[in-house]
Amino acid sequence: RADTDPHRPRFHFVPPSGWLNDPNGLTQRDGVYHLFYQHNPEAAVHHRISWGHATSRDLVHWQDEPVALVPGDSGPDVDGCWSGVLVDDGGVPTIVYSGRHGERELPCVATGSDDLRAWTKDPRNPVVAAPPAGLDLVAFRDHSVWREGGRWRQLIGSGIRGRGGTALLYESVDLRSWDYVGPLLVGTGATDDRSRPDWTGTMWECVELFGLQGGSGARDVLVFSAWDEGQTHHALYFTGEYVGDTFVPDGTHRLDLGGRYFYAPQSFTDDAGRRVMFGWLQEGRPDAAAVAAGWSGVMSLPRVVTLAEDGGLRLAPAPEIADLRRDRVTLTGREMLAGEPAALASGDQLDVELLIALEPGASARLVLRATPDASEETVLEIARETRGRGDARVRIRLDRSRSSLDPAADRGELTGDAPARADGLVHLRLLVDRSALELFVNGQALTARVYPTRADAVAVRLAATGGRVRIEDGAAWRMEDAWQAGAPDEGASR
Ligand code: FRU
Repeated sequence: RADTDPHRPRFHFVPPSGWLNDPNGLTQRDGVYHLFYQHNPEAAVHHRISWGHATSRDLVHWQDEPVALVPGDSGPDVDGCWSGVLVDDGGVPTIVYSGRHGERELPCVATGSDDLRAWTKDPRNPVVAAPPAGLDLVAFRDHSVWREGGRWRQLIGSGIRGRGGTALLYESVDLRSWDYVGPLLVGTGATDDRSRPDWTGTMWECVELFGLQGGSGARDVLVFSAWDEGQTHHALYFTGEYVGDTFVPDGTHRLDLGGRYFYAPQSFTDDAGRRVMFGWLQEGRPDAAAVAAGWSGVMSLPRVVTLAEDGGLRLAPAPEIADLRRDRVTLTGREMLAGEPAALASGDQLDVELLIALEPGASARLVLRATPDASEETVLEIARETRGRGDARVRIRLDRSRSSLDPAADRGELTGDAPARADGLVHLRLLVDRSALELFVNGQALTARVYPTRADAVAVRLAATGGRVRIEDGAAWRMEDAWQAGAPDEGASR
């Protein structure tokens, strides 16, 4: 059923059928990449969540593995095995996850076989009996676990009523017995304007702490997903310094301009030393449409996260994804005058990479998944802002008001800024995979979903809107399916 759905991506990871949300337990072990994810194999609804599992040798082709963790018949995870991480405990693969029982989640532990296929839950679960006393907490779930000074440390996502989201710090010698240290950091979300795109939420889901080394030195990064009263808002990160038992932030940043379309990310360091991140691309069509299609939720492409000179993060699809590029068309040297759109590519599985020059004050209009008569089209507007020297930004706006003739598809606009490059050019990377769009503008991601109804909604066009636009360097490719029927060595058939 799922396979006949024209909106189902062909080079992103999607659940074999049923429901997918957060990436979990990301790791590379004996060379093999493991992607676990929040999964309901039974139906495309969020209910009694298991941990789905897939493996890959190249981050491009995935093989489905047996479901790794399933809710217990009774006990602390009877209502779901919610998000968590996988750590190597002296050679023993160990998952720390949130067991759900009723309306409550508590930390649980499971140990795995070497191939990470067979899992045994610890009889001591839950390993923390209750959230810390004396705090009025909104929720208590999701985990970031690391080794430090001969001990384990853990963050659990939460929110303090009336104050805002928080990450609660714990410490342990054995991953089974935990001492509460205190809140690592408390946001100010509770009282702020919740319509702001960088609102920090009343609760932080999927907290994650890691360090990065970059041109500007070392920095610590705290990633979280802002949540409020059952509503998923967006993923953010603080940059700053993790010192002692606290995190001293020096900036709040949006991880992706797509809001809930790139949610609950998790990252890990692979064997090549890269910080690789995945996130959950939520649906933008009604629940009933997903149920009818038999599947829900897309995993982002793996993104390599780096620290830039300005202290912010840059995201780019892992270079391995380029293995799927076919039928290269060169676009270098094309020039557009105002009002004359140029056709760049055609298809619903595409990779387009452009380095464009915009005259000062000029803007560009890039159209994706467009029909010849423009009755359906998704429009990316890019404008170079000319504020003072040094703080120039690139304004981006994704207009989905005409992305679909289906009135039930989400048509909300997505906007924000990207950093400017020193040379003033704008680097664009556009990955179109049927309903999944991953756009990168100078390393700033904007992820979205679109649901065109017409089979001829395949054109990609670029136009200048005021001023002149020139493609200094560029190409477009058709993207091959990552799911290859009948080639089990290269990935499962779907
Ligand atoms: C984020 C989240 C997590 C939770 C999981 C449940 O999308 O709500 O906080 O652990 O999903 O599936």
